[in-house]
Amino acid sequence: MNAESTPYESYWLRTAPPGDPAPPPDGDLSVDVAVVGGGIAGLSTAWELARQGREVVVLEAGRLAASVTGHTTAKLTALHTLVYDRLRRSRGPEAARLYARSQSEAIGHAERVARELGVDCEWEEAAAHTYAEDPRHVPELRAEAEAAREAGLDAEFVTETDLPFPVAGAVRVNGQAQFHPRKYLLALAEDLRRLGGTVYEGTRVTGLTEGEPCVLTTEAGVRVRARKVVVATHYPVFDRALLFARLSSRRELVVAGPIAEEHAPRQMYITPERNTRSVRTAPLDDGHRLLIVTGEHFTPGTADAEERFERLAAWTERYFPEVTLTHRWATQDNDPTDTVPLVGPFHAGSEHTYVATGFGGWGMSGGIMAGRLLADLIGGREVAWSGLYDPRRLGPVVREGGRFLAHQAQVARHFVGDRITPLPGSGPSPDDIAPGDGAVVRSGAGLCAVHRDADGTLHTLSARCTHLGCIVSFNRAEQAWECPCHGSRFAPDGEVVQGPAVRPLPRRDL
Ligand SMILES: Cc1cc2nc3c(=O)[nH]c(=O)nc-3n(C[C@H](O)[C@H](O)[C@H](O)COP(=O)(O)OP(=O)(O)OC[C@H]3O[C@@H](n4cnc5c(N)ncnc54)[C@H](O)[C@@H]3O)c2cc1C
Ligand code: FES
Repeated sequence: MNAESTPYESYWLRTAPPGDPAPPPDGDLSVDVAVVGGGIAGLSTAWELARQGREVVVLEAGRLAASVTGHTTAKLTALHTLVYDRLRRSRGPEAARLYARSQSEAIGHAERVARELGVDCEWEEAAAHTYAEDPRHVPELRAEAEAAREAGLDAEFVTETDLPFPVAGAVRVNGQAQFHPRKYLLALAEDLRRLGGTVYEGTRVTGLTEGEPCVLTTEAGVRVRARKVVVATHYPVFDRALLFARLSSRRELVVAGPIAEEHAPRQMYITPERNTRSVRTAPLDDGHRLLIVTGEHFTPGTADAEERFERLAAWTERYFPEVTLTHRWATQDNDPTDTVPLVGPFHAGSEHTYVATGFGGWGMSGGIMAGRLLADLIGGREVAWSGLYDPRRLGPVVREGGRFLAHQAQVARHFVGDRITPLPGSGPSPDDIAPGDGAVVRSGAGLCAVHRDADGTLHTLSARCTHLGCIVSFNRAEQAWECPCHGSRFAPDGEVVQGPAVRPLPRRDL
């Protein structure tokens, strides 16, 4: 692949385009439940609630299922790399069992929903594998296979796979699935409207006041009063329980392209080796399948994405020489410090607000699970695994010590360090910035984010992220300003591309 000339385009978005946007609300609203965010977590929650007869609105800043969910790999599995051994040791075997049951039930539920709604979402059954090429990882894989089996999954340790290279070992879980996430979710949105729900796109929520009712404010100044509010914005745009301190953002790259059926693996794979490699294929209709490979993760704003795309493409072409790479895209997920997603009441005092976040790279089954769990909690029903996912669970410092402190140290470095560490030499000058590139430039006492567009025009913004003030840096490959602290992303003109920030980077004069 010539990464430079391969356009950024998610295969899921290209093959299930969104159509005309739903208009934003044209005045204030009063509703029963407002769901903020129309990704897999928000849409699943809204649909479950509408099906139970609740009056629901979805407030989506951009387009439905077009953010992280529109750029995923879309494996539906309860095998989440190496979660079970860790979980049984940190929270006990019962927690591991509940995790396996809740994720497996979500996959079964999605299959039934797809059938019930008659959605052609390219649903395929496949086995999920976590593999390693290095024999030193075999004991870890054996422990994971045992823990996953103990948790109730049909798991085994194997050494044979349908990958075109040998592995030292793998955990295999049979009876998992893969699908087209947007085809599934756009059908869910259509059914949501049929059930009386309303979707507003292009509607960024900027404020939340909790009460009876809760009041949401949008960027356009519209007020939405709601008895219940679900915050499903991926990284929560409001922090009421120090969730920011418990979530770290991880950006990851994807390359994809057609490969002849006889060379295409039919099962799903992931390895934590080589900075992660994840492999699956999707159906195409000309004797080919689409090979999708994910990996090369990094903290947003801290790596040269172009170089990493080259590395991922080189690995893919070396191991699958028959592939022609035609797509590349990138997205990011949030890792909770204790591995388990945060789904439930927003904070200790919350009576009417809920959150779904921290899917750690597994928000397909996790998002569907979250939708069911939140709809049950809002409906006043007990769920066996509500305690497992409860965001109010035992304080981070107590149980998640090492990871929590490491994340805090990293944030502090970017928050304080970026301000007091001088830019190298006298720092870059705007004259040094090539067309298509960007850099943080010192201007008087402040720091400016300066981008030179393809025509040579400079665009100057404040370099302070509007979330909590860390200093952004430019991702040339994806033409975006990225914040290393909690993963906010901004377009070259300063507009918010991804939260938790809700306000654009303000313009500055150099
Ligand atoms: C490379 C990669 C591959 C992955 N592959 C898999 C996989 O194979 N299987 C799996 O299970 N998981 C996978 N995941 C994880 C999964 O894709 C995510 O966990 C999941 O899509 C997150 O869904 P979400 O609804 O929380 O977020 P999103 O899809 O991002 O939805 C949140 C929505 O909220 C909106 N929003 C944000 N702020 C506001 C605001 N202020 N007002 C209104 N709306 C707002 C956004 O526009 C967005 O549409 C992968 C993740 C990555 C990074
Ligand atoms: S995303 Fe939190 S400070 Fe930038």
